[in-house]
Amino acid sequence: MDPLHKPIYVTRPVLPPLEEFTEYLKKIWDNKILTNQGPFHIQFETELAAYLGVKHLSLFTNGTLALVTALQTLRITGEVITTPYSFVATTHSIWWNNIKPVFADIEPEYFNLDPDRVEAAITPHTTAIMPVHVYGNPCNVERFQNIADNYGLKLIYDAAHAFGVKINGNSILNFGDLSVMSFHATKAFNTFEGGAIICHDEATKKRIDNLKNFGFVNETTVVIPGINAKMTEFQAAMGLLQLKYVDEAIKDRKEIAQTYREGLRNIPGIRCLEDVKGVEHCNSYFPVLIDKDKYGITRDQVYDLLQKHNIYGRRYFYPLISQFPTYRGLESALPGKLPVAERVTEQILCLPIYPTLQIEAIDRVISVLNRGE
Ligand SMILES: Cc1ncc(COP(=O)(O)O)c(C=O)c1O
Repeated sequence: MDPLHKPIYVTRPVLPPLEEFTEYLKKIWDNKILTNQGPFHIQFETELAAYLGVKHLSLFTNGTLALVTALQTLRITGEVITTPYSFVATTHSIWWNNIKPVFADIEPEYFNLDPDRVEAAITPHTTAIMPVHVYGNPCNVERFQNIADNYGLKLIYDAAHAFGVKINGNSILNFGDLSVMSFHATKAFNTFEGGAIICHDEATKKRIDNLKNFGFVNETTVVIPGINAKMTEFQAAMGLLQLKYVDEAIKDRKEIAQTYREGLRNIPGIRCLEDVKGVEHCNSYFPVLIDKDKYGITRDQVYDLLQKHNIYGRRYFYPLISQFPTYRGLESALPGKLPVAERVTEQILCLPIYPTLQIEAIDRVISVLNRGE
């Protein structure tokens, strides 16, 4: 431990001024509407869609239920090709729909699903592809759309890390059939817990809205076996307030990422991910790869070393989803089938990044990594 220094965590939630949030709470106390598409929900849905540059957005109480519902929305069955390199909720949502997940390998630059590997994994049972914009870095959206079109597959993006990400000014959320977001406390934009599905037409939005509210279309009519995945008024109020501060928060993240890149650039064996030209990033994470042959010690040793200095990085994503007991028996999960993901999961480490992270703290992280002791 390093008693002289305060702990530095991988993330800290972004919180708006409490006095401002109490103003929203007063309104909730006055009107006594706590949930069920209340006034804040309606307002937040509209303002968030406008902020993100998307046409149709449905709010959810968390990202996992949004993923589960996205698959229900498009009536996906059979097999879905997805990535082993993500948070478990991506594959769990497939499992919860009684669909077989089929893992395909990732590409080595940004660790997103590799379109070539996806195409090779298609079978007569495949109905959809579920890629993840890992760390908010865009997948190869054009290739995925071509594959989906050529094979008649649906395309659902897990965009949980990609708040506000744009390619040449166009929201990343406008690609594919559906995109799913998470506003969990640890994300670049949070509503305590929360999520959303983005779709491209009114009829699909209606189906999503029915599905998240038990299947009700009016007081007495239930048209589908929906679930309860509604966002509360508290979450929506938080979201409205967070929208005021999110640009500044993302700007701070960008500066921190840049400081890390400059500070780590000349350390042999540490690779940072560069921002992509034409892409507006949200820098929700700061992943680095540790090459033990060049750096001298393994990723796990670096992880322990940082902890010794009271710095808490996280091994996102380790283990791979395909290595968890539920999934490791699947043919596509067997050792050696996903060589790139199997290598990256042993080398990856996410360094602390959040808007209020001070320059002294960033310098401490860089300095420990520079010394390697
Ligand atoms: C890639 C990814 N998908 C899905 C989720 C699940 O979102 P939630 O925590 O809002 O349920 C998360 C994070 O929590 C995630 O990182």
